[in-house]
Amino acid sequence: MSLKITIAKNEEEFDRIAAWKIIGCMLSNPHAVIGLSTGQTTKNMHRIVSEIFRSNPFDVSGITLFGLDEITNVPRDYDGACYTMLKNQIVDALGIKEENFIMPPTLSDNYTEEAKKFQSELELRGGIDLQILGLGTNGHLGFNQPGTPFESETWISRMDGVLEARVRKETRITEGELGGLTLGIKNIMHARKIVLAAKGDSKAEIVKKMLCNPITTDIPASILQLHPDCEFLLDEQAAKHL
Ligand code: GLP
Repeated sequence: MSLKITIAKNEEEFDRIAAWKIIGCMLSNPHAVIGLSTGQTTKNMHRIVSEIFRSNPFDVSGITLFGLDEITNVPRDYDGACYTMLKNQIVDALGIKEENFIMPPTLSDNYTEEAKKFQSELELRGGIDLQILGLGTNGHLGFNQPGTPFESETWISRMDGVLEARVRKETRITEGELGGLTLGIKNIMHARKIVLAAKGDSKAEIVKKMLCNPITTDIPASILQLHPDCEFLLDEQAAKHL
């Protein structure tokens, strides 16, 4: 089995390579459906996509952007909500129309229904052409924590303790359950192309496990070893144990 691994020599190069993957997908397919991820790993690549677009504008009226996951039970305009992050980092800069930015709501009284709607909206648009993924230090993808079955479809997962504590602190929400609505592993594996992006020292251990361990639900990202078109984009720190 051969894996496609790209090791950028620094953060700047990492962000540029990733940004050009997104731009390249939009240019080669004017109706592309592109899944983005939020977090520290992706925010600079989004900024660079916006900068490239500002200096070389092109028609994005047929492009669909969506977020891999969303926090539940917080206001949508909370700075840490994926909707708000993506809107501020990339969606508005590209002028993507509201109807072409697909996100589940943060607040709902029927998340199961919302999960189904989110998934079928993506299917209606022909499925995912490119999915950018971040990597949790425990190997999670989106909100699919260790133990999530590989055949999972869009669902509401629990939040890991560290993230939950941060969200509670920032939103001052003390009651109620906080969770994450996320594409399932099966949906992720159905994307035509995937770029798994991981940078920094803190990801080095899990990067090695993801790529070198046997495939197991204990490390959700290990399933990506089997994807026919997944590129693992790393910086030198994240790749240091390979
Ligand atoms: C969060 C998000 C994921 C993201 C991951 C990595 O849990 N739900 O979508 O990919 O963590 O985040 P970071 O890039 O900040 O390490």
